[in-house]
Amino acid sequence: MRTIEWDQGTVRMIDQRRLPAELVILELTDYRDVARAIREMAIRGAPAIGAAAAFGLALGARQSQARDREALLAELDEVAETLRQTRPTAVNLFWALDRLLTRAHDPALQTPAEIVAALEAEAQALADEDVEINRRMGAHGAQVISDGDNILTHCNTGSLATVDFGTALGVIRAAWEQGKRVHVWVDETRPRLQGARLTAWELMRDGIPMTLIADNAAGHLMRSGQVDVVLFGADRVAANGDVANKIGSYKLAVLARENGIPCYSVVPTSTIDLSLPDGDAIPIEERDPEEVTVIGGVRIAPQNVPVYNPAFDVTPHRYLTGIITENGIVYPPFKRNLRRVVGG
Ligand code: MRU
Repeated sequence: MRTIEWDQGTVRMIDQRRLPAELVILELTDYRDVARAIREMAIRGAPAIGAAAAFGLALGARQSQARDREALLAELDEVAETLRQTRPTAVNLFWALDRLLTRAHDPALQTPAEIVAALEAEAQALADEDVEINRRMGAHGAQVISDGDNILTHCNTGSLATVDFGTALGVIRAAWEQGKRVHVWVDETRPRLQGARLTAWELMRDGIPMTLIADNAAGHLMRSGQVDVVLFGADRVAANGDVANKIGSYKLAVLARENGIPCYSVVPTSTIDLSLPDGDAIPIEERDPEEVTVIGGVRIAPQNVPVYNPAFDVTPHRYLTGIITENGIVYPPFKRNLRRVVGG
């Protein structure tokens, strides 16, 4: 199945907290449970968060008892606010909610039943488009991958981070489908281990050659000539091309530059936020200290140790070779060229 699906008023999603030990499907019929699933990272990855928010709003509309259009629209604002409060960095969350709210306010929709039906259709369209967009990103991005490349990637940007196929991992999949013999170095991605748990699981299922590494091994591999290209995703791209992505991405980009290795961020245009001038304006989520002090239920640090746990960092655009989107690969100057690609 896809990472997230709508089935006649039920949102079905893979519970990513349980992977790779077991494949569990959550079945949610209350938008508050969808909000919790996003906050607790049962579903995660910027495009998947966007799709979950869209289906969550559609669910909220379906749950409503509102008797007229105005009452339903007021309730939808509250549902959207609950969903907005879940995770701050991935702009796809806000983008998806805005898209659905705009649809709900279409004056042609007069009755609550019409709005409910329109929101279900819009959320489904958003999810379907995500898959198609990922395929297009894959086709563009595969051009920068050569036969025999060793690719280093971070976090999980695959089917699980999207509705299906993936962003940076989609590029790897597309290159593999073209017959390029690639090998992927997978960063374990502390503290939540999305690389070890999710990316390794996806690549092994697809039979794409990979090797799991501790995050700290990346510099050694780059300096010793074992990495040809670095690919990661993004949760938000500012107007100047600075990208916020999983904590540790910045370090990889700087190391890549130091070692003369190309480094690309792979993003759908829905992840580009032209309203923010640069990366300093991107909100960076801080998460529970237990993500750092407890691994798989085992405490690895003293009780009450002070912890700082930022979930994302910002890579300044000067470290990026290019930004791969569904509308093509954007090269510097990013400030000018990103505008063009978002325009279509
Ligand atoms: O905290 P997460 O797991 O939601 O973070 C995910 C990432 O950082 C991904 O790299 C990003 O969302 C792009 S994936 C398509």
